[in-house]
Amino acid sequence: MHSLDEFAWAKLATLDQAQLRRAPVMTARSGIWVERDGRRLLSFSCNDYLNLSQHPAVIKAAIAAAEQYGVGAGASRLVTGNHPLYAELETRLARMKGTEAACVFGSGYLANAGIIPALVGPDDLILVDELSHACIHAGAKLSGAQLYRYRHRDVGHADALLAEHRALHPHALIATDGVFSMDGDLAPLAGLTAIAQRYDAWLLTDDAHGLGVVGGGRGSTFAGGRADVPLQMGTLSKAVGAYGGYLCASAAVVALMQTRARPFIYSTGLPPPVVAAAIAALDLIARQPDYTGEPLRKARLFARALDLPEAQSAIVPVIIGEATAALAASKRLEKEGLLVVAIRPPTVPVGTARLRFSFTALHPDAEIERLAAIVRDCVLGRALS
Ligand SMILES: Cc1ncc(COP(=O)(O)O)c(C=O)c1O
Repeated sequence: MHSLDEFAWAKLATLDQAQLRRAPVMTARSGIWVERDGRRLLSFSCNDYLNLSQHPAVIKAAIAAAEQYGVGAGASRLVTGNHPLYAELETRLARMKGTEAACVFGSGYLANAGIIPALVGPDDLILVDELSHACIHAGAKLSGAQLYRYRHRDVGHADALLAEHRALHPHALIATDGVFSMDGDLAPLAGLTAIAQRYDAWLLTDDAHGLGVVGGGRGSTFAGGRADVPLQMGTLSKAVGAYGGYLCASAAVVALMQTRARPFIYSTGLPPPVVAAAIAALDLIARQPDYTGEPLRKARLFARALDLPEAQSAIVPVIIGEATAALAASKRLEKEGLLVVAIRPPTVPVGTARLRFSFTALHPDAEIERLAAIVRDCVLGRALS
């Protein structure tokens, strides 16, 4: 056997042993329903929180853009890939987030891999919430800045790290999920903005799961009064239902990204139909703030039925512990016609494998009550009261 394949098989065998191997499963999606292995399942594992990926107005916009501009951008935005729809998308994003400007990237992951190293380098300091998304950790590592992970949502710990290290570095960045992707809780933005100001540190929030869901649809910055967050990044792939990443910030920072963020410079622009779809979806979000409250209302219904802590976003985790047990719980729900994917390390810390429930505006309340009853019976092992 070629040494390369030997290496790959050995790695895979180790992962198999720990039940940590993952592979994509063929899934056909139609609204809140999915088809897997010939079975129709009700899905609670999709980030299309407002179901906009399949909204007729969004689809229509994508088709019109494909007809007018084609399906590919053809080049990086700094070459010839900057088709006219980009300006409209960026204007809408900036308006929604209340910033001077916005900059669209190829994806949310690429955005953080580009933004962070464009702002801080090896002489600088970066503090990251330990449960932040992998792309924040990737951006932090790529930057070469001195990295400290503070305990989850622990402003006191971040404060102590700044007190100890800030003076040694010309610039400092604090980076956190606005809504934590695997836990559904919110970053303590009031506390973080206060320490950012005190130590002259720049605060970046990743609002992948906040836009369209909390703060009247405007995201986590607007969830508890307006927080002063100079770097609001996120993705267009979840509640917006399309694809792409963004940064909303000052005009100066956005201009810097356009000339220094490597994924912006060295990657082809997004396909025009995707940009058009995002514009149409943002339009719907801006015009229907009440509708954006629906996923959170559903998540709260579920959490309340199971006596879990009150949901703060569309995401509700039920922590199981070991990866094997989480997989078994997921399989058990699948038998009942429910798709709830088990989340295992390294996506979550070892010993905290879980079922991650995500709720969308279209999940009927009755189905959520049924789900809660099944989870109570089959996963938590508690009898129905
Ligand atoms: C918090 C967070 N940030 C960033 C991303 C990456 O966004 P994208 O899918 O657009 O790469 C995700 C999820 O995929 C996420 O959950």
